[in-house]
Amino acid sequence: MEDRKIVVSGIRATGGLHLGNYFGAVKNWVDLQAQYDCYFFVADWHALTTDYGDPSALVGNSLEVVADCIAAGLDPERSVIFLQSFVPAHAELYLLFSMFTPLGWLERVPTYKEQIRQIGNKDLATFGFLGYPVLQAADILIYRGDMVPVGEDQASHLELSREIARRFNSYYGKTLPEPQALFTPAAKVPGLDGRKMSKSYGNTINIADSPDEIRRKCTSMFTDPQRVRRDDPGHPETCNLYEFHRLLSPPELQERVARECRLAQIGCVEDKALIADQIIAFLEPMRQRREEVMRDPGALLEMLRQGSARANERAELTMQKVRAAMKLDYERFVESKAT
Ligand code: TRP
Repeated sequence: MEDRKIVVSGIRATGGLHLGNYFGAVKNWVDLQAQYDCYFFVADWHALTTDYGDPSALVGNSLEVVADCIAAGLDPERSVIFLQSFVPAHAELYLLFSMFTPLGWLERVPTYKEQIRQIGNKDLATFGFLGYPVLQAADILIYRGDMVPVGEDQASHLELSREIARRFNSYYGKTLPEPQALFTPAAKVPGLDGRKMSKSYGNTINIADSPDEIRRKCTSMFTDPQRVRRDDPGHPETCNLYEFHRLLSPPELQERVARECRLAQIGCVEDKALIADQIIAFLEPMRQRREEVMRDPGALLEMLRQGSARANERAELTMQKVRAAMKLDYERFVESKAT
């Protein structure tokens, strides 16, 4: 349909989806499909900014993410679902943006320094990693996206996309709309260690995890540091573990656990078992759907090819406008001379 707003969002392909991705992004995407023209993609090139040293898992990871997204409710009939690297125009726009994006803007992005600090085992002092948000701006602006559903952690990247659109428009004339961020509530899911759940921290629970694996992982969860012994009263309001009840448990269970935890009637070990039950029950239908999808990787790839072809149509339209605005239109030049 013509005048529906365009929603664009991507997810990094660093492994199968985990609960943090689901609650931070994908759940919201699923709901947005009803109202908007949605372009959802796996940012496989973005994964390379950190995993360039060993890209051997990239393709497998990307397909897994897609399977997980479909298991979670993304629908290729309603949304354009594709791979970033299947639409090379993202790279072309990224290159053009790189010409006028000041280094200072990139060095100031808070995630830049933070990630370099947090991810100690990889050399991130690279051109590609510094350019991460420029590629993200290209991902969004190439579809002339109106709205970008993301977690709060992406706020600075979104702001940079808007700044790049403004700078483009001020140099070359109004071409690219400024995208709005659509922040997802409850975006922060804690990981097993209490930090934000993230593949790079190795603290995730994945959609693909078996019930046994989930139980094992829950046993290792970080809990209330002020509750040293079993008979110390707990603090559900600040406990990492309790966050999972907030996300997944029915209200009665939430209340009971909070009450019994404060009174030291339930211990962390028991509580971890309760959490594991909730997570397992919640993920079971997705895990089954995912297995079905993964049984036919050829069909999955074909679906991505079709989605990427649709994405490419809109991307090409934008690139024509961009090349014309930047006076990179050779056809027009030649025509103007041929009289
Ligand atoms: N940087 C985003 C993340 O880590 C992923 C991403 C890449 C993205 N390109 C995007 C999100 C474009 C929204 C729009 O979650």
